[in-house]
Amino acid sequence: MAARRGLFYTRPDVPIDADALHLVLYPDPTLRVRAAPVEGVDDDVRKIFRRMLEVMYEEQGIGLAAPQIGVSRRIFVLHVPPNDDDRTLDSDPPSATDGPMVFINPEITALEEAPEAFEEGCLSLPDIRGDVLRPPIATVKALDAKGNTFTMRCGGLLARCVQHEFDHLEGVLIIDRMTQMSRLRTRLAVRDLERDAGLR
Ligand code: NI
Repeated sequence: MAARRGLFYTRPDVPIDADALHLVLYPDPTLRVRAAPVEGVDDDVRKIFRRMLEVMYEEQGIGLAAPQIGVSRRIFVLHVPPNDDDRTLDSDPPSATDGPMVFINPEITALEEAPEAFEEGCLSLPDIRGDVLRPPIATVKALDAKGNTFTMRCGGLLARCVQHEFDHLEGVLIIDRMTQMSRLRTRLAVRDLERDAGLR
């Protein structure tokens, strides 16, 4: 369906029809290109991130990047709720958020400590999960929903989520970063998605 093709939305002069934006699946080409910077937090950008939050909650994800709804712009959203276990708001650095957050033109300004393996999934790669190595602490600088710059140092699942969503803006997916073992284990499922795309 042409309306789902995100490359259409890389041109800032093309108006956004937010209701037409839906989750796109691998191997959609939007997921594979470097997303364009956002010029300013205007009505179109607000429409995009509101729709992203809707889709993230509908799909029960904890994070979503604009390319995943077919929009090749540098925006991601996340909501990593605290749990009774390892996700907390009051640890230093925090590993959860107290609500949804919007990151516009994000930059990862620091990564700390040796990479650790942890199983990740991605809404654009249904039924595929695998171990990805990432540093456990990340600092991200971005514009928030109102266009104000903020910096956040985060750990645990939150740091992982930030790095995963940032990767989407670079056209990078978990299947590129998985350990060799996970890559082998998921190879057939990835091939199935490629085949299904040919049939869609
Ligand atoms: Ni993802």
